[in-house]
Amino acid sequence: MQKLCVYMSAALIISSLIFMSAHSQEDEMLIVDNKVFENPQRPAAAFKHDEHNENAAIEECNICHHIYKDGKLLEDESSEDQLCSECHNLTASYNQPALRKAFHINCKGCHKKNGDGPIMCGECHKK
Ligand code: HEC
Ligand code: HEC
Ligand code: HEC
Ligand code: HEC
Repeated sequence: MQKLCVYMSAALIISSLIFMSAHSQEDEMLIVDNKVFENPQRPAAAFKHDEHNENAAIEECNICHHIYKDGKLLEDESSEDQLCSECHNLTASYNQPALRKAFHINCKGCHKKNGDGPIMCGECHKK
């Protein structure tokens, strides 16, 4: 009986740990993968994906995860199931900016436009 109790409380602790970690993942830091850059010069950029978008009052996923067709942005579609690097190469092609530039135009561009959000290197590329 005593043994059973120990097993049960262990199971309870484990399941609450799993629950807690699933929850805290919501505002976990997203490290933007920089593996595709052959010799990354900076620490990978990091931001709290969901929290960031909430604070910046961004409602549409496709402000960042966009899909274009024949040069036109598809308003109702988004590409959050794809990495930016699946479409943007290390070099620019046609009117698609190269990967590094794509990130910088997207991230820094909006921060500059809004006068809010970091534009200093170390604020995104955190050590
Ligand atoms: C608003 C956020 C932001 C700021 C500010 C920013 N970057 Fe980036 N940068 C990114 C993101 C996101 C990537 C994509 C890859 C990654 O995680 O590093 C990137 C990629 C890069 C890359 C290509 C990957 C590498 O490490 O070689 C370089 C180089 C780079 N940034 C340099 C800079 C420099 C220099 C500055 C300051 C003048 C700067 N960045 C400011 C977000 C930012
Ligand atoms: C401010 C820009 C931005 C907005 C807005 C945005 N995302 Fe993202 N998201 C990113 C970046 C950058 C990555 C990393 C992509 C990469 O490494 O190529 C990412 C990654 C993801 C990933 C995959 C990986 C992971 O580790 O979480 C999912 C899923 C995702 N976003 C879903 C969404 C959804 C759903 C929305 C809208 C509710 C959204 N995103 C809005 C920038 C954004
Ligand atoms: C499904 C493919 C695809 C994915 C995924 C994708 N892009 Fe793009 N992106 C394009 C195409 C195509 C263009 C060229 C648009 C045009 O014709 O003007 C573009 C243009 C851009 C531009 C320049 C125009 C603008 O919107 O300011 C930026 C910046 C950019 N992408 C950043 C990103 C970032 C950051 C990510 C990841 C969060 C990303 N892209 C994911 C296909 C993609
Ligand atoms: C559409 C506009 C927009 C885009 C795109 C955008 N940001 Fe921001 N970002 C903001 C605003 C607005 C703030 C300031 C909001 C606040 O936290 O008070 C901000 C704040 C931040 C901060 C500081 C606060 C925090 O959440 O840590 C970081 C880091 C950051 N952005 C990184 C990024 C990166 C990396 C990208 C590109 C992958 C990106 N941002 C794209 C609008 C944007």
